[in-house]
Amino acid sequence: MAGRHPSEILFTAEQIQSRVAEMAKEIRSDYPNGLHIVAVLKGAFMFLSDLARYMDGDVSMDFMAVSSYAKGTTSSGEVKLLKDLDTTLDGKDVLIVEDIVDTGLTLSYLQDILRARAPRVLRTACLLSKPSRRQTDVKVEYIGFAIEDRFVVGYGLDFAEQYRNLPYIGVMSS
Ligand code: IMP
Ligand code: MG
Repeated sequence: MAGRHPSEILFTAEQIQSRVAEMAKEIRSDYPNGLHIVAVLKGAFMFLSDLARYMDGDVSMDFMAVSSYAKGTTSSGEVKLLKDLDTTLDGKDVLIVEDIVDTGLTLSYLQDILRARAPRVLRTACLLSKPSRRQTDVKVEYIGFAIEDRFVVGYGLDFAEQYRNLPYIGVMSS
């Protein structure tokens, strides 16, 4: 794609791997009976695949897809459910896996609809968080890295569907 490119590496592949391994260990010990992962497509696909590889024991997973009706690089606050889960959450120990919590509007919507399905436990893991952008006090139990208000790509995160495949996280030049 011509035009914009990531101008700077924020987290290398090695930094991400070591943090994700730590998160997996912490999460796994908080879920002694195993866990059911709900991954949010598309952005969480790479985080999920590494996180899950660092976990042993009982791990099941399901996927949902949402669209934040993003206008350019900002979230509009409206969330559309594009793909729902295949199985129920009733009585399960659930972990939502998301790429990034920005305003928190997407996650807060997701947590509400998933909580209504009566999981026994519902916690959330996000690789990245931009605390200065928050518009709701959404609860995220596991955060990989807190970052400043910059638009990042790579490791699942996109700009206009590009750069999801990068093994590192970079900042878009403006
Ligand atoms: P929120 O609803 O504002 O928390 O934003 C949710 C979604 O916006 C995330 O799941 C991402 O898909 C997208 N998003 C927010 N910040 C970034 C970014 O820096 N890079 C890529 N996508 C982002
Ligand atoms: Mg997302």
